Amino acid sequence: MADAVEALSAGLAALGRQFHEQFEAAPDEAALRALRASVLGKKGELTSLLKLLAQVPPERRKEMGELVNGVKQEVEARFEARREALARAARAAELAAPPLDLTLPGRAPAPRGHLHPITQVRWEVLDIFAQLGFEQAWGPEVELELNNFEKLAFPAEHPAMDMQDTFWVRVGGDDQLRTLLRTHTSNVQSRELSARRPPMAIVSGGAVYRRDDDVTHSPMFHQVEGFLVDEGVSFAHLKGVLTTFARRLYGEAAPVRFRPSYFPFVEPGAEVDVGCVFCDVAAGTRAGCRVCKGTGWLEVLGCGMVHPEVLERCGIDSERFTGFAFGMGIERLAMLRYGIPDIRLLFENHPRFLAQF
Ligand code: PHE
Repeated sequence: MADAVEALSAGLAALGRQFHEQFEAAPDEAALRALRASVLGKKGELTSLLKLLAQVPPERRKEMGELVNGVKQEVEARFEARREALARAARAAELAAPPLDLTLPGRAPAPRGHLHPITQVRWEVLDIFAQLGFEQAWGPEVELELNNFEKLAFPAEHPAMDMQDTFWVRVGGDDQLRTLLRTHTSNVQSRELSARRPPMAIVSGGAVYRRDDDVTHSPMFHQVEGFLVDEGVSFAHLKGVLTTFARRLYGEAAPVRFRPSYFPFVEPGAEVDVGCVFCDVAAGTRAGCRVCKGTGWLEVLGCGMVHPEVLERCGIDSERFTGFAFGMGIERLAMLRYGIPDIRLLFENHPRFLAQF
């Protein structure tokens, strides 16, 4: 019995020394917890010493019990102290270390859209004429034959109508109601000349339709139309306005020329060419230029003096009033401006193509 007291005392003394050193040497909290378990756990050293208590004589049991409890509390206190020290050290190391970059690369904003090149060029053209005092008007894309051809003095069955391969919408029944997809924006001339009285200066832009389809023609394309009617309007006014327009669009230095041409609703009629902006003689690039085909000129619009017959058909006195008119294809202007080789690119709408404008 006395042996048990001795063995217990000796065991506790040895344990006291041992766990002190081991706890202080524990490198981290996990190691520290393992050490604590080796003392206080089910199979721990203190737990096995505790079993000796049963053999201690009853009169010394209280005393020895307190001794064991004292050691147990000390183990707990040491454990806590070491745990806190380890945590403080870990925190200090973390703070001293180079800062962690916790940011992710930002989400790229969705690419910003912009107006289609056709819309950009159309607005630019309309803006130039607005600056020159032209007012804007609108006309429908599904139109009466009357407004698209008849009032513009296209004679019935005249071969000139073959110039504009037409999409007919309604042909049977009442001749007055024959309808088609407008083949040009000149229907706005028929409408405005019939609805208003001179003086007037009007521009209009929009979609038109013809049955042709190749690298430079699309069955749907866009035009800008303009006309000015007043007393005393001459070909000189036409030349002045269209030369100013061409120079604002292509630059002040751009050469401009007028060539005789035929449209049933003008007399005389002309086409306007602008000096090719893609090549030049001095640089030796003219001969091989694919855009102007070596001519040095780009055809940009049709124009002429409004035919007296058109004025009469629209109820305007052709003895008193004269006027000029012009029309141009927007796709063509855009293709020339940006060097686009195939008109279809403008309608396929691939983002990689459109992003270039
Ligand atoms: N309407 C003609 C075309 O589409 C262009 C034009 C308009 C010509 C006005 C002369 C005057 O080809």
